[in-house]
Amino acid sequence: MDSAIDWHTARAMLEWQAEMGVDEAILSAPVDRFAAEEEARAKAEAAAAMPKPGQAPVRVAEPKIDPIEDAVKAAKNAADLPALQQAMADYPHCPLKKGARNLVFADGVAGAKVMLIGEAPGRDEDLQGKPFVGRAGQLLDKMLAAIDLSRDTNAYITNVLPWRPPQNRDPKPEEIAMMLPFLQRHIALANPELIVIVGNISCQALMGKRGISRLRGQWAQAEGRPAMPMFHPAYLLRNQAAKRESWSDLLEIKAKLEGLG
Ligand code: URA
Repeated sequence: MDSAIDWHTARAMLEWQAEMGVDEAILSAPVDRFAAEEEARAKAEAAAAMPKPGQAPVRVAEPKIDPIEDAVKAAKNAADLPALQQAMADYPHCPLKKGARNLVFADGVAGAKVMLIGEAPGRDEDLQGKPFVGRAGQLLDKMLAAIDLSRDTNAYITNVLPWRPPQNRDPKPEEIAMMLPFLQRHIALANPELIVIVGNISCQALMGKRGISRLRGQWAQAEGRPAMPMFHPAYLLRNQAAKRESWSDLLEIKAKLEGLG
């Protein structure tokens, strides 16, 4: 920007950007701050490990940490949902945690017959600490209401990942792998009779398969329970025509719930 720009022009430009919908200050190219932090940490460790003049080199045995093993242990030790939420908050290995404002654990009625599992929090969810509260979440609420479900009375909602990925990028396989033991424990503790798998990332995590257009609408199994994969509501906001298929999937879920009594 021209540094000689006057105050009024600068303000007008800022207002124009806000009108255009700019709501976050980001650069033209992404900065991987985690990588920079990691590099600085590695350099500091290397410097600390350098032998001082006259000192013999000391070999320090690095303790081996397996983030997935740690997650399995922490999840298994959680006896109930509040303990699980605390265990996730204390889990140090997922890099997404550093960039997120809040841990997004769950919303709705724990113990409900239906548990919906989305992908990861977006901006609104990160700010409020609750899943599916942005535009996609509002559509999800309407879809649930159409089959007499609501997070206020009879549905429970969570995500595969509890922290927002930077700039809403897709979660990385290693991030999913380390948080999966927590999700599995979450399902076991909430103990739903059926699961709604919302979106492709969730299919990948829970069924080991992608291809939501092919998978949706057919009952599958996830964590030993009937599971219905569905289009993500964010996809439906962009592809109105796909709402027809989602309506049919919702009716399938309603019928299954009626069959359960
Ligand atoms: N998309 C998701 O998958 N989950 C949320 O909580 C919000 C948007």
